[in-house]
Amino acid sequence: MGKSKCSRRFIFFVSILILSMGCTGIAAPTLTVEPPTAVVIEPSVTPESTTTEIEAQPGAEGAGDSLYPNLGNGGYDVQHYTLDLIVNDVTTSELVGKTTIEAQATQDLSSFNLDFVGFEITSLTVDGQPAEFERNRQELVVTPVGPLAEGEPFTVEVQYQGKPGEMDSMAIQIQTGWITFDGGSFVLSEPDGAASFYPVNDHPLDKATYTLRVTVPEPFEVGANGVLTETVDNGKTMTFVFEARDPMASYLATVNIDEFDIETSQSENGIPIRNYYPTGSPEELRRPFERQGEMIDHFSELFGDYPFEVYGALVIDFEFGAALETQTLSIFSKAMIDQGLEGSESVVAHELAHQWFGDSVSLGDWRDIWLNESFATYAQGLWTEHTQGRAALDEWVRRSYAFVLEENTSMSPPGEPPANRLFNAGVYYWGALALHALRLEVGDETFFDILKTYHERFADGNARTADFIAVAEEVSGKELSEFFDSWLYSEELAPIPALGLEAN
Ligand code: TRP
Ligand code: ZN
Repeated sequence: MGKSKCSRRFIFFVSILILSMGCTGIAAPTLTVEPPTAVVIEPSVTPESTTTEIEAQPGAEGAGDSLYPNLGNGGYDVQHYTLDLIVNDVTTSELVGKTTIEAQATQDLSSFNLDFVGFEITSLTVDGQPAEFERNRQELVVTPVGPLAEGEPFTVEVQYQGKPGEMDSMAIQIQTGWITFDGGSFVLSEPDGAASFYPVNDHPLDKATYTLRVTVPEPFEVGANGVLTETVDNGKTMTFVFEARDPMASYLATVNIDEFDIETSQSENGIPIRNYYPTGSPEELRRPFERQGEMIDHFSELFGDYPFEVYGALVIDFEFGAALETQTLSIFSKAMIDQGLEGSESVVAHELAHQWFGDSVSLGDWRDIWLNESFATYAQGLWTEHTQGRAALDEWVRRSYAFVLEENTSMSPPGEPPANRLFNAGVYYWGALALHALRLEVGDETFFDILKTYHERFADGNARTADFIAVAEEVSGKELSEFFDSWLYSEELAPIPALGLEAN
């Protein structure tokens, strides 16, 4: 294997990472926080309630994230989103939308926030009654006619129209959200682009199930998360209904519009696969995905059963240097799968591994992004090990080590990413090396036990770095705080003595 071929492997994620490197010094935008004011309501509905006062408060305008305090909202928990999007013009993405949110109040609420950007809101109701609302940048503040009691379910319906606008992410110098290109559109929202097309509690802490109902003019088609349960031919338009029945973080919701060739298969163990390729794509475009079934089964053996009911890839017919692990249907720009078969397959393995690490087990705080990216990056090494043997993995580790040493100054230690460069290469490669070092520290069997236990325990939920460390210590019976401190928070790359790797 020639050197240039190998170094190409690093280009892919670095290509999106480099974009984020030029933006040092730009602070993440913050929204003005107004202190919540207590509203004392004396409900007069039932005779006995007149004796007790409900002290309803506004829900917090952030979910409490340590890097992005304004992302998400507090005071309620969403169970299900139903998005009903009628795209009238694919060239501009001009659409009429209705998002229905089924939620439960987690405190007595006088008002609550959603995250939503752009569009004209034509109607907003809570439990069928028109509610007052105010918009302040990405915060949509909703005041229902009466307070919502803690523990009670409620339904919000927002109707809107317009074109999804471009989102400037606080975290990454790349356009996120709903993006329109010549011939279609796609959605890549990590971490803060979801609000560009639906009102949402935009933080992975509030996972929910989704129904995505999208209507497009013929002959366009839609690829979205979950299972396609219905297609309705309305004459000049078609409606595609997708059900994502497993809890999903908001940034993983995706809607893609184009004309597709859909290829279906299944893994040997029976996981259904559907891949979406732009119609008329050359045959080579499909090759990096040929071994996805084998990858699913292999990773299921290493990490635990594949967490969702279906998987597949969708290729975007537009040059955009990124791929994203959108739940059950990872999406790839062409540039990401045009790096030679081996390099491209490695990207495919990366996005698949995120289905366990990132999608099923989601972040409790964006600061812990290494729990997503380092695991998916290490999975690329694991795929190399599976296909080429342990010596090839060792070689991959050596190359990664050299890469981190060389580029060290542009990286953060994996556990300390800056808010405006969340996806810097440190959370990919440096953290992947940390996982390999952990494997060498505890031995192969214990290491994979740790990964499985961690996945099993936090599947469909959220985890933080401390949760992973706790599992690693519990399963290995070792005290590992010093180990993790040196790998996650030290500015200096820790040594891997077994491979003779050290910083100096
Ligand atoms: N999580 C993506 C990956 O697999 C990287 C990423 C972060 C991204 N934010 C994005 C890709 C926004 C596209 C758009 O590495
Ligand atoms: Zn990734």
